[in-house]
Amino acid sequence: MPAWLKDAIFYEIYPQSFKDSNGDGIGDFNGIIEKLDYIKELGCNAIWMNPCYDSPFQDGGYDVRDYKKTAERYGSIEDLVHLFEEVHKREMHILLDLVPGHTSEEHPWFKESSKVERNEYSDRYIWTDKWFHGAQGLNYIAGESPRDGVYVLNYFKCQPALNYGFLHPEECWQKGIDDPACLETREALKDIMRFWLDKGCDGFRVDMADSLVKKDDESKSGTSEVWKNVRKMLDAEYPEAALVSEWNKPQVAIPAGFHMDFFLDWEGNGYNLLMRNIVDGKNNSFFHKDSDRSVLDFFDEYLEKYEQIKDKGQYCLITGNHDMIRAAFYLDVRELKLAYSFLFTMPGNPFLYYGDEIGMRYQNLPTKEGGYTRTGSRTPMQWDNTENCGFSTAFAKDLYLPVDTKPGAPNVAQEEQDKDSLLNMVKEILAIRRREADLQENANLELVYAKKDERGFAYRRGSLLMLCNPSGEEIVIEETSLPKVGEKLFTIGEASYTDGKYMLGKQSFVLWKIA
Ligand code: GLC
Ligand code: CA
Repeated sequence: MPAWLKDAIFYEIYPQSFKDSNGDGIGDFNGIIEKLDYIKELGCNAIWMNPCYDSPFQDGGYDVRDYKKTAERYGSIEDLVHLFEEVHKREMHILLDLVPGHTSEEHPWFKESSKVERNEYSDRYIWTDKWFHGAQGLNYIAGESPRDGVYVLNYFKCQPALNYGFLHPEECWQKGIDDPACLETREALKDIMRFWLDKGCDGFRVDMADSLVKKDDESKSGTSEVWKNVRKMLDAEYPEAALVSEWNKPQVAIPAGFHMDFFLDWEGNGYNLLMRNIVDGKNNSFFHKDSDRSVLDFFDEYLEKYEQIKDKGQYCLITGNHDMIRAAFYLDVRELKLAYSFLFTMPGNPFLYYGDEIGMRYQNLPTKEGGYTRTGSRTPMQWDNTENCGFSTAFAKDLYLPVDTKPGAPNVAQEEQDKDSLLNMVKEILAIRRREADLQENANLELVYAKKDERGFAYRRGSLLMLCNPSGEEIVIEETSLPKVGEKLFTIGEASYTDGKYMLGKQSFVLWKIA
């Protein structure tokens, strides 16, 4: 495990929308550099930046045309290296987004691969042997290229799947994972990783990390074998490089060689129930004041996985990401404060999606560059109340996406002035996390109080006890097994402790030192 992950708090940046430094209406590398001090002061010491490579942008850049070139809109490779340097100068780290499972259909490898004549790239993607053969249940495209065969997709139509082989090849066109062509794909992936690590990035967030090996890799043993092989290379050549997977199965991802995996928002799962759960049109998210949920709806699923990996890697909680509806769509500021206090005092490296620290709102927008419903969570950062909220000096009509300037839209400058703002609360809790080793990634977690039919709950981490009451009514927890508490380090709402009784005011969160 790279030492720097011990207390890394990540800030996710969607580069299109963070800060435009040259007035062309779209965010860029130099804009991010301008705002590094802001990120650091917020309390984040690491960054994950969404894809910034050359791309036709049919899926926000997750359709890479050239892995070793930056997208012109963000700046040159020198600008990106400059960003790495500025990050490091501030004792921060930065992860790039690695897209290993597919490329854009405009990638030169794919163009070569589509040709009739056999060449070096013929087997870089998954093709069947006849134009009229389907791909055995996998999504595919037929009739688009001179080559006699159909090709397999990994996600969108613009994203042909790279060939890492099949766990149990059956058809003549299916290769085993150790076939030389599939090993070449693997080597090409390592080559891309080396390229960026040599330039100074600190690791990768890995897109659809579980998607590499095809049928029937249900157990993911094939895909895991690929990653274990990559891990060997990293351990030998780049031991400080960090890897976080988009997988949502830490018990599989971490043994495969990742340091961290995300608890992602899948409808009805434990994470979804915390902040984004709508049942029959009614918001029943745990942190919503009027919900009737118990926190066990989250912990039952979380703990089962956490217990399996806690000594080996991190199971990371996020405020949101570029694929999800923003949390502020479901929760008001008070509810967000409780939710974030919880997320930021849990094990695993926390990930804060840009703008969530000020409660940026979800906007209802037409799709842009393959964003669909995700587009509304990708709008420009709101810095202040100047033109375009300080995001860009371009005309509003020329912005990549519209800025939220509707009444009530939050911004950084205004929240900095308000001592009760969400932003200031985030700063406070992150500062406590950085100060208290017991709140950091590997420190122990114990759920000490939670009941199926109760809203309040308590968890302990080393010498600290956290209690939370998300409901609209005051509650009293009387439980002899809970430790006695002393100094209060952080509170939202009212909370007190007397004679073994913990009084929690409505919508409260408290962090106590154990006496
Ligand atoms: C991941 C990305 C998402 C993208 C997809 C295909 O889920 O987070 O934005 O559309 O992979 O690459
Ligand atoms: Ca720009």
